[in-house]
Order: sequence, then C-alpha cells, then structure tokens
Amino acid sequence: MLKETPPSDRLVLGARDVRFDWSDLPRHWVPDEPLATHLMNVLHLLLPAGERWFVAVFQQALPLITDEELRRDVLGFIGQEALHARAHQEVLDHYTAQGLDCRPFTDQMEWFFSVLLGDRPRLRGRAESEWLVSRLAIIAAIEHITAFMGDWILNAEGLDRAGCDPTMLDLLRWHGAEEVEHRSVAFDLYRHVDGRHLRRIEAMVLVAPMLFVLWRKGVRFLYSIDGELAGRPLPRVRDVRGPASRGVTPALSHLGRKVLRYFSRSYHPSMEGDTDQAVAYLAASPAARAAEGRAAEGRAA
Ligand SMILES: [Fe+2]
Ligand SMILES: [Fe+2]
Repeated sequence: MLKETPPSDRLVLGARDVRFDWSDLPRHWVPDEPLATHLMNVLHLLLPAGERWFVAVFQQALPLITDEELRRDVLGFIGQEALHARAHQEVLDHYTAQGLDCRPFTDQMEWFFSVLLGDRPRLRGRAESEWLVSRLAIIAAIEHITAFMGDWILNAEGLDRAGCDPTMLDLLRWHGAEEVEHRSVAFDLYRHVDGRHLRRIEAMVLVAPMLFVLWRKGVRFLYSIDGELAGRPLPRVRDVRGPASRGVTPALSHLGRKVLRYFSRSYHPSMEGDTDQAVAYLAASPAARAAEGRAAEGRAA
C-alpha cells in the first residue's frame, strides 16, 4: 500500500440535488443533428448502471482508506456519482414514457456492471482484494475519460451555436463540471490502495476499446428505435466526422489523443481540465443554483 497520495484539488466535493424537467425535450435535442443527439444519449444508456457500480465498488474500498482527506473526497465522489446516475435514469424514464424504450439495451448494461464486473462472493483472501483493486483501476481509467469529456462539454461552443436544448445542455455541463471537480479521486484512491502502473495501463487497454464498442452499439440501438429516423441507414464510425467538424461532438482524434495521455508514468488527473472553470459553471448552472436554493431553504426551515 502506498503511504502517500499525490496532491489533489482540495475542494470539498458536494452533491448537488439537481432536478430537471424533461417535458419539453425535443427528440433531437441538438437541432437537425440526430447523430450528435444519439451519441450523447448513449451517456444515458451507460451511466445509470455504471455510476451505481462505481458507488458500490467505492463503498467496498472505504475500509482500506487510511488518509482522512482521501476518505472525505471518496465520500464526496460517492454522493456526486449517485446523483449523476439518478439524473441520467430520469432521462431514460422520460424516453420510456415517450415510447423510446431503452430497456433492451440498459438491461444488458445492468448485467454488464452488476454481474460481469460485480461482486464475486466465492473469492477469498488475496483473490478477493485483487478483484477489488482491478475494479478500482477500471474506475480510474473510466474517470480519466469522463474528466476529459467533461472538459470537452464545458468548452463545446458548437453546442451553444447549434441551439442545443438548454435543459439537456445544463445536465451535461453540470455532470461534466462535477467530473472535472472530482477527476483526481478515483486515481488517488487506486494509488492509495495499490498503485501498480501496469495494472492501471491494463485497465485503460481494456476500458477504451470496451467503451468504443458500447458506444457504437448504443448509437445503432438508438437509431433502430427512433421512429423519426425510420428508413435511414445506421450510422458508421466515420459519419462522426460531420458533427465533429461542426463542434457538436468531439472528434475521434481528440478522444484518441486524450486516452493516450493516461499511459504516461507521470500522469495525474490534476493535469487535465480546469477546476476553476468547472466551479464557475456550477455557480451559474440553472439546475445547480436551484438545488442550492432548495438546500438553503431546507437549512433555514
Ligand atoms: Fe458521473
Ligand atoms: Fe465521475
């Protein structure tokens, strides 16, 4: 076990109890950009199951933490991820109510995280702790990706120019800003309980292609159930070039370069993203401000 953790941002990570009203959400909430819309809708397919899994794994790691600041960060991370999962789940529930039933896909995601990557009760001793360490390494790798995606969405002026639905944009930027805020926590926790370089590299070698496959599958699934796109061919990977050139999705080359940064021995998430920008967005976010107003009313009552 490593005795030291690298410095992380000394923010106090707070969960913001945000609420969103989806009643006026257009089907293609990036106007005239169904591919960009569904590329980002894949977040709603993956994140509820994935972030609930993060919470479950981190709760198992809590007894291993001997650093009080890290424990506080991990508890803040758990609170934030639980609310991210809820917010994306509410979008899915809205889609289901609108006849866009995502359950054939999300049921597979539930199996993926809770069975394939879930607890293995038959493991004992070292095998059990190695399984926990492997899952912490996987979460650290995913959190690198969520951090640079969060940084991308905070800076994606193309989505503003395109007239993106403001409520969905606020959800994505609130979530992205909190991903930037807590971007060091999973990495620091992995370093604290194990820290083997090769293990974290192996985790990214697994995670990046896995997410690519799930994303492609998710977009094609959404096209197949979106009646407004009936008769259109399913999108190919190279079709992303169009929306990327308009700044409404990240370019694949950008994503590839960001993933590669994780392989450096000197990598630390604090080198990615801009905490001040994230905090500034959270101070301005309509949903986060409303959540803070409700919290203040609760404290005053
Ligand atoms: Fe999240
Ligand atoms: Fe996260």
